[in-house]
Amino acid sequence: MRHLIDTTDLSLEEIDEMISLAMDIIEHKDKYSNICNGKKLATLFFEPSTRTRLSFEAAMYELGGNVLGFSEAGSSSATKGESVEDTIRMVSCYADIIAMRHPLEGAPRVATSKTLVPIINAGDGGHAHPTQTLTDLLTIYREKGTFDNLTVGLCGDLKFGRTVHSLIKAMCRYKNVKFVLISPKELAVPEYIKTDVLDKSGNEYIEVEKMEDVMDSLDILYMTRIQRERFYSEDEYLKHKDAFILDLEKLKTAKNSLTIMHPLPRVNEISTEVDDDPRAKYFVQALNGKYIRMALIITLLKWGGIL
Ligand code: NCD
Repeated sequence: MRHLIDTTDLSLEEIDEMISLAMDIIEHKDKYSNICNGKKLATLFFEPSTRTRLSFEAAMYELGGNVLGFSEAGSSSATKGESVEDTIRMVSCYADIIAMRHPLEGAPRVATSKTLVPIINAGDGGHAHPTQTLTDLLTIYREKGTFDNLTVGLCGDLKFGRTVHSLIKAMCRYKNVKFVLISPKELAVPEYIKTDVLDKSGNEYIEVEKMEDVMDSLDILYMTRIQRERFYSEDEYLKHKDAFILDLEKLKTAKNSLTIMHPLPRVNEISTEVDDDPRAKYFVQALNGKYIRMALIITLLKWGGIL
């Protein structure tokens, strides 16, 4: 049985296979509409989510399966003091696969020690968000046809943004990827990502504070929101909340081939006037999230001998 806790749990070949499967699902939806008949996905969300939870649920329904679960810790036995281990052990008696989100970093890894079925990390604190990364990789593949030789700008809250951490880990495994890290100094990428991931990979990266200075060099611009819920004080958040606002003026020097991405939800870091620009791909990205999760559910169920 295999789980998906971090993007690097998958080899590059397995990621390729997952993307090929998602592409086949996009082209031949009917072929997959009954493949999970009788199977159940549990979505355990101890932290709020809209896209991730709904895209998991939509994915399972489109595969012909069923969904059970909860969307906030307050409506689960966590409020009675039940441990994550006990919740998982119990839920794995009812479901064939589990997607869980938890505010504590490492909680999904702990869950794998007690489960009887595959576990998918749907986001753990500020740490990782591997299914968002698979979504991002499918989007990059559909837009660029490759993961090599790209200049990737990551902009916003690079300290607390787990989608950024997971995406850097994933993109670092490809050839000649240049990272342009755009953030205020206080919200820079954590040191461990620089030393353990970026430096070790040998990929080039620079850190800047203004997107205008680097806009013309980018193939991908990955915007992120300032992660209000992870700040220690509201004042700190307020200081950074309007740090970056992407608008049409700032895009004037950008390549025509630029791909603008955002894991969503957006607060105000991308002006709505950008939505109609052909380079804006964040809503397509959200749709890709459903297809790649369909591919992931099928793959993990097959690896677990459940399908
Ligand atoms: C992201 C997350 O939860 O980390 N959202 C998502 O899953 N699409 C990004 C965010 O909350 O800013």
